[in-house]
Amino acid sequence: MKPKQPAVSLDELLEIPLLKALTKQQSLSQNKSAYERSFRKKESIFAPENQEDFILIVFKGKVRIYLGYPDGKEFTIAFLEPGDVYSSHSGTFAEAMEETIVWTIDIKAFSAFMLQDPVVLISMIKVLGESLANTIGIIENLVFRDVGKRLASFLLQAAREKGQASEHGTLVNLGLTIEEIASTVGTSRQTASTFLNRWQKAEILTLSRKSFILKDTHSLQTITEEN
Ligand code: HEM
Repeated sequence: MKPKQPAVSLDELLEIPLLKALTKQQSLSQNKSAYERSFRKKESIFAPENQEDFILIVFKGKVRIYLGYPDGKEFTIAFLEPGDVYSSHSGTFAEAMEETIVWTIDIKAFSAFMLQDPVVLISMIKVLGESLANTIGIIENLVFRDVGKRLASFLLQAAREKGQASEHGTLVNLGLTIEEIASTVGTSRQTASTFLNRWQKAEILTLSRKSFILKDTHSLQTITEEN
């Protein structure tokens, strides 16, 4: 099938280097390896179980690339705009965020195209760089959230076991340095300090040398229960 003329002006398209290179590629349309597809807002473009292996190039609209899990949790990895490239074999979901037009190109045809024109590589590197940055952010959040929960649980348990009522809250003589607390919950001193200082600012606790005063047990308990 010869790809249809996209419903965007050619001038608009040609401002995007990858699309300019693509429109010059006779072979893509001649060997029936590229198709234009339209999607409505919220419509799925591909999912991890997708059997087809194709490269997607956004012509018009916006696409969200994300990881999704059966419990409903979603992590967004990238937002694609016109001229951006992604692949259906990446183990992610892709969803149109608005009326969207994409070209899907057979991966083998795309590989040949990629070797002929460095513009394609630049588009791929841009998207892969953004995806990597977002993925690192997601990993950091997950790791940090877990550390926060573990640290909060540890402090609550210490308060239950060793706490003494005092004027300002529950005084807990831990007898541990921040470094020792950090290694107990499996993190670095810097990360443990970040959390403890954050909670001190929020008036959940007050730190002193090898001890702390727990002022807001409820907030610390809530942290251990956060999703
Ligand atoms: C922006 C474009 C692309 C993205 C985001 C992407 C992403 C990925 C990801 C995440 C994987 C790992 C999949 C897994 O382990 O489940 C992968 C594997 C792979 N990709 Fe890509 N890819 C892209 C373009 C390409 C292109 C153009 C080619 C070929 C020329 C290619 C060839 C492969 C191959 C051969 C594998 C290994 C497959 C396997 O282990 O079975 N990818 N890619």
